[in-house]
Amino acid sequence: MTSENMLEKCEKLLKKHNQGHLLTFWQQLDDNQRQSLLLQIQQLDFNVIDGWIERYVKTDTPFKLPISLKPASSYPHQADKGPTKRKYEEAARAGAHLISTGRVGAFVVAGGQGTRLGFDGPKGNFPISPVKNKTLFQIFAETILAASQKYNTTIPWYIMASPLNYQQTLDIFGGSNYFGLKPSDVFIFQQGTIPNFDFDGKILLADKSTIACSPDGHGGSFRALCKSGAVDDMKKRSVEILTYWQIDNPLVKVFDPLFIGLHSLEKAEMSSKALIKAHPKEKVGNFCLVDGKVTVIEYSDLPDELAEKRNADGSLAFSLGSIAIHIINRKFIEKLNCGDTRLPFHRAVKKIPFIDSAGNLVKPREPNGVKLECFIFDALPLATNSVILQTVRSEEFAPVKNADGLESPQATKQMMTERWAAWLESAGAAVPRKPDGSVDCVIEIAPSFAIDKDDVEKKKSRIPEIKSMDRLYLA
Ligand code: UTP
Repeated sequence: MTSENMLEKCEKLLKKHNQGHLLTFWQQLDDNQRQSLLLQIQQLDFNVIDGWIERYVKTDTPFKLPISLKPASSYPHQADKGPTKRKYEEAARAGAHLISTGRVGAFVVAGGQGTRLGFDGPKGNFPISPVKNKTLFQIFAETILAASQKYNTTIPWYIMASPLNYQQTLDIFGGSNYFGLKPSDVFIFQQGTIPNFDFDGKILLADKSTIACSPDGHGGSFRALCKSGAVDDMKKRSVEILTYWQIDNPLVKVFDPLFIGLHSLEKAEMSSKALIKAHPKEKVGNFCLVDGKVTVIEYSDLPDELAEKRNADGSLAFSLGSIAIHIINRKFIEKLNCGDTRLPFHRAVKKIPFIDSAGNLVKPREPNGVKLECFIFDALPLATNSVILQTVRSEEFAPVKNADGLESPQATKQMMTERWAAWLESAGAAVPRKPDGSVDCVIEIAPSFAIDKDDVEKKKSRIPEIKSMDRLYLA
């Protein structure tokens, strides 16, 4: 087809779908810009996009609370006696077996923009460890290396980046020798993007030849894992299970044999860890049952009377908060990718820079448009079976979200020190504490020393005396 024909076809298509403005600056573009814009337009399925605009962009459909909503049930954090204890022992053995036989891969989503943290570059490159200032990427790479050694196996690491940080992510890994991992065992891939819209459903331009797009959310990972070839790589390696976590939570126990084992014994397709919410309206998703299926209801969608509802013993009825730690079966990812299953979009009203009709770049002060994202937890109700295992906040959840205050780097570092102090104390070491009970030194335990509490117990002879104000690094 000649380029005139292509242009004509494109003009017709855009006009039909009310997006003709995308070619406003055609006459001012050079050949490369024209080609690039046509390519971007060709990649969009406007029939599908029209549906999104009606359903998600033009209207802010209020959330409809499902009638059959109940609290989800969960496995307790620990089982001290009886049949549950025996089940946990069996599960931990099964989980360890799956890891050591190479059936488990690691999967982190790292495609977010980290707007709240305001850090330049991929969030994985954010330095966070309290003594050595290791980055999130380095901490997880060392964890995977240590687990591979502990279980005497090879654990592949799948990292989802977005088109906005993919190249930087590759450069970071390349520039640091993959933090000691074999490059062939690290699979970095890109998630998809979704155009940004104004409130009338018009697609925004980021510049005269570029459509404004943003990553399609962590829920985009199901599609991206398949499209990128990550699932094929898993098949080649006989990897059946992915442990999923988010790049900003350095406390996560990436390889938890108990969690993996319970998931496997229960024949679950996708499972989750949960914590008991600190208060009724804590800003985490709520694990619920809808028509018997595990479903996460966002904190903003759970009515106050349900959020506040209490059991006879005073505990919250809807007590289980989602912390974005999951196990996902490879076959479940494949299942969601055949046919036309699509996770629902969530609508976020944002300030989106754009080019106005006169060709000027506008940086709005007020929200001017809509970004659409899919969330990973929306896959849970699609799983035939799903396990929830409780965990403890101080052991596993300290995300770095904000530049300061709640969930800031400072708060996360403090929680890292506190957790490692607890590990040392449970192995019998004396950790200096202030009168208010907080740790009076800085502690960092490298994954090469311990990836969980039990590893510390085995190495307790190597723990030195710890003094107040020390900066202790164990590796
Ligand atoms: P957040 O929802 O915290 O978003 O992502 P964010 O982009 O990191 O930060 P803000 O909201 O802009 O401040 C939770 C996790 O999901 C990943 C992030 O990288 C983080 O690990 N994520 C988010 C993706 O991989 N892709 C996305 O499109 C969105």
